[in-house]
Amino acid sequence: MRSLADRSVRPAPTAAADLTLRRGAARVLLDNWTGASTVPSRTLYPHQWSWDSAFVAVGLRHLSVRRAQRELESLLAGQWADGRIPHIVFNPGVPHDAYFPSPDFWQSSRVGRRAGAPSAPETSGIVQPPVHALAAWLVHRADPAESRRRGFLPRVLPRLTAWHDYLLTHRDLGGAGLAAVVHPWEPGMDNSPCWDKALSRVEPAPPGTFRRADLHHGHPADRPTDLDYGRYVQLAVGYREAGYDDRGARHGFAVEDPCFNALLIVSELALAAMARELGGTGEPHTARAGALTRQLVARLWDDTAGLFRVRDLRTGALVAERAVTGLVPLVVPHLPPDVVRRLHATLDGPHFRAPATRLVPSYDLTGPAFDAQRYWRGPAWFNTAWLIHRGLRTHGLTESAGRLRRGFLTQAGRSDFAEYVDPVAGEGRGTRHFSWTAALTLDLLCADGEEAGP
Ligand code: SER
Repeated sequence: MRSLADRSVRPAPTAAADLTLRRGAARVLLDNWTGASTVPSRTLYPHQWSWDSAFVAVGLRHLSVRRAQRELESLLAGQWADGRIPHIVFNPGVPHDAYFPSPDFWQSSRVGRRAGAPSAPETSGIVQPPVHALAAWLVHRADPAESRRRGFLPRVLPRLTAWHDYLLTHRDLGGAGLAAVVHPWEPGMDNSPCWDKALSRVEPAPPGTFRRADLHHGHPADRPTDLDYGRYVQLAVGYREAGYDDRGARHGFAVEDPCFNALLIVSELALAAMARELGGTGEPHTARAGALTRQLVARLWDDTAGLFRVRDLRTGALVAERAVTGLVPLVVPHLPPDVVRRLHATLDGPHFRAPATRLVPSYDLTGPAFDAQRYWRGPAWFNTAWLIHRGLRTHGLTESAGRLRRGFLTQAGRSDFAEYVDPVAGEGRGTRHFSWTAALTLDLLCADGEEAGP
């Protein structure tokens, strides 16, 4: 890895196993680097994905701060004038049939022009969870002198602020100050049972009208079903036909998601830290984080269940399913102490405790829709584990954090950096050499959360 080394490299971990893991993780990131950004997977996801890139930058900063900055700025090159950061920035060198839906499906530069899509690169029209400002702050913290020298924060702060402005205005569809998502790909947990009820109202696109590319690279039992895909396509077509205009669109799906909003809060706090670093007070961002935290608790906390719920904006009701999205808000620093206590108990209770892997399943182990293999309907993912680990540390729950960290590192190594794992049997699922799994492994090995939080 010498070619990647720069001043951000921290002392190597001492244990031989950690060193092997670290080398393996670095190799994945090196192999998945395209020259300007990182693909989540060479086969299954051959373009740049939004929240993947943010997690990748968090890990890349331990290898090369410059490359981590580049990762985030490549993504920001696809930002729209209305502030949205699209969930995919397409690589023009990749053939259209390598991934579906491809640029000719989204037609961003033509159909999205009125909403502010750039003429290039081509992008999707939907978004993903706003973890970017947190990532940018952590990249800055990895080498503040290098960051200052290259003017990193002054370049990204206005763009990240515009991104949050978009979410807090165009996407406040519930009118209460939280951001809504309008497609199951937006919260990043595509086929979570949390969306089943809302999705059942969507008439799927007929099977013959689109061709999935994911099944060429992924096992059908690990991936969303054809019926789900038909609905994803239909929703995306509807948004495209409205020119990706949130005010004009009649969203067939609109929910307030706890993980999405928790990341917005943590990222607002990161913007405040960046603003202070640049000589400001950060006050507007701190105030926004405070207001969002109050609304998150007021609108999505379920005291009986001891976790956050999804709110379906079409019915106004909380969704009855328990899923990992409801636990990720532990990453928010200023939660009421009782909420922290209850979340901690839920993590360790029958719905989410998976002793064999010590990871957090994406969906309730006892729930009716639990499926240990299928994408977000049960498997444990490494990005949510990293966020919950961060939350446990934020709230001083170091013993639980240590257990989760050990489970994470063991499963990441054993599964060859799998996309996700069966939380009960511990078998790797989905694709391997998955970038965020590798990146967050590096982060747990190299930083272990010791840097100042936002
Ligand atoms: N996660 C989706 C996919 O599987 C899209 O973001 O392609």
